[in-house]
This record gives sequence, structure tokens and C-alpha cells, in this order.
Amino acid sequence: IIRLCYNPNMDSLSEILLKAQKNNWAVGHFNISNLEQLRAIMETAKKINAPIMIGLSEGERKFVGLRQAVALVKAFKEEYGLPVFLNPDHSHSVESAKEAYDAGFDSVHIDLSKLPFNENIEGTKEVVDYVKSKNPEISVEGELGYLRGESRIQKEIIKIKPEDLTKPEEAAEFAEKTGVDRFAGAYGNSHGISVDEPALDIERIRSVRKALTENVAMVLHGGSGIPDSQIKEAIKAGISNIHVNTEIRMAYAEALRNFLAENPEETTPYKILAPAVETVRIKVEEKLKLFGSVNRI
Ligand code: G3H
Ligand code: ZN
Repeated sequence: IIRLCYNPNMDSLSEILLKAQKNNWAVGHFNISNLEQLRAIMETAKKINAPIMIGLSEGERKFVGLRQAVALVKAFKEEYGLPVFLNPDHSHSVESAKEAYDAGFDSVHIDLSKLPFNENIEGTKEVVDYVKSKNPEISVEGELGYLRGESRIQKEIIKIKPEDLTKPEEAAEFAEKTGVDRFAGAYGNSHGISVDEPALDIERIRSVRKALTENVAMVLHGGSGIPDSQIKEAIKAGISNIHVNTEIRMAYAEALRNFLAENPEETTPYKILAPAVETVRIKVEEKLKLFGSVNRI
């Protein structure tokens, strides 16, 4: 097993997230399905000197391969000397979270938010205990609250109900009982680009922040399609980690579609994919600047 080596001279993810929280900026978490997207993200992070998280959902992991993802990120980490953390995004079972950790991922996300509160706590705690017993430095994320949508362009209107949203006292109990380092909640965000503009409940973010202890970082999922002004407010209210997937996928797919339409005879993959890499680079730079991640290493 290749393991992403922990460099004692580099801050841990928890240390970076605490700095972000105290100084009102956020660490960007971007999903990948292939080397081209990873390259675009890593080159941008290097260019602007930003710590970064790379995420793969269960579907993305299945496509890329666990060990393959670890090896690819390790290669960029060694070459660029950047704080980059590889996260098994939305692991929907204890087994899949453990499997990713065992394969060498150096961050974990266990998402049992669809289970009843107590079962969510139980499974999340099992993952936290497992990972911490092997390496206490690894940051583990748990999730509470109902996040609708999928990372694609949603054709239907996503109606977020008040009962979907995370309650501050439950957030505090969840974090305390599980021992998570990162807490993902529902604040009016959803996965994918929805037909109607999302409206984040900034006050709720603020009260969850107050209910949690300082060492627990707040994560905002579903970063795509949220207006810049709301992202800035969310960071001020206590979010220190933001996930973006759909906007990356859209940038990638659109560049690819355009290139193939304009160059139907081209067969060389590195020529076909070059504009897609460039478009993802531009998108990631825009997001990292919005998150205030520039020169944070
Ligand atoms: O975990 C991944 C994210 O929450 C991505 O959400 O596709 O809406 O950007 P998004
Ligand atoms: Zn997510």
C-alpha cells in the first residue's frame, strides 16, 4: 500500500482549517474523476500557493481506483510540495470509509446523514475511532442534516424544507459524541446546480459555529451555484471548508464538447483534453480566490 506520507514540517489539515476559521477564509475541496481534472486543480493550487483538498465520491473512486487515486495525489504532492489532502467524499458506509483510509487516503468523510440520529452517531464514531487508532493526525468528517440533490444540473426545483436543516444543539451533540474534526451540515445548500438560486441560512451557520467547539471545522457541501456574496457571508459566519464538484464537471464537459464539435477529426487525447484542463484551471482559480485561499501556505 502506498500511503500519502505525513510531512511533520507541514501543517495537518486540522491546523490549516483552524487557521482558516480564525482568519476568515476557506480551504477548497474539489472532486475529480480523472488525471486531467486533478492536474488542473493541482497546477492552480501551486500557482496561487493554496492548500487544497481533493475528493472522490464513491462513484468517482470506483472509476479511478482507490490505490490509483492515492498514487496520483502522492506524485503531485511530492513534485509540488503542497499541503494536499485526499478525501473519500461522502462515504455512505463504515466499510467504504475504512477501505479508503486503508488504501492510503489521508482524510476521511463518513456520511451517514440518511440514517436516524443515533445510528449516524454510532457509525461515525466507529470510523473516527478506527482512523484515530491508526493515526490521530487524520481529519475525519461527519455529516448531519438532509442535503438534497446530486452533483449535476438539476432540472427540477429543489425545495429545501426547514426540517432538513441542521439544528445547532444536535450538531453539538453529534460532534461531541462522535469526535469528528469536520462537521458537514445542511444550511440551505444542495448538491448540483438547482433551477432556483440557493439561499443559505447564514444565521444558522453562525449558531452552529457557536454550538461547536473551535477545533471542529465547519464544511459547506454543494458549493456549486451558490452566489459569491453568499459564499463570502458563509465564510464570515464560520465555514472553513467548501466543496465544489458540479461547476468543475460542467467546465470540463463543456470544453470537451466544444472541442470535439469543432475538431471532429482530432484523435490525440492530449490535444482533445487540453482545453478541458485549461477551463478547469480557470474555474478552480476563480473559486480559490473567492474562498480567500491565495498565499495561505
Ligand atoms: O461533496 C461534494 C460537493 O458537496 C459538491 O457539491 O456538486 O454542488 O458542487 P456541488
Ligand atoms: Zn458533498
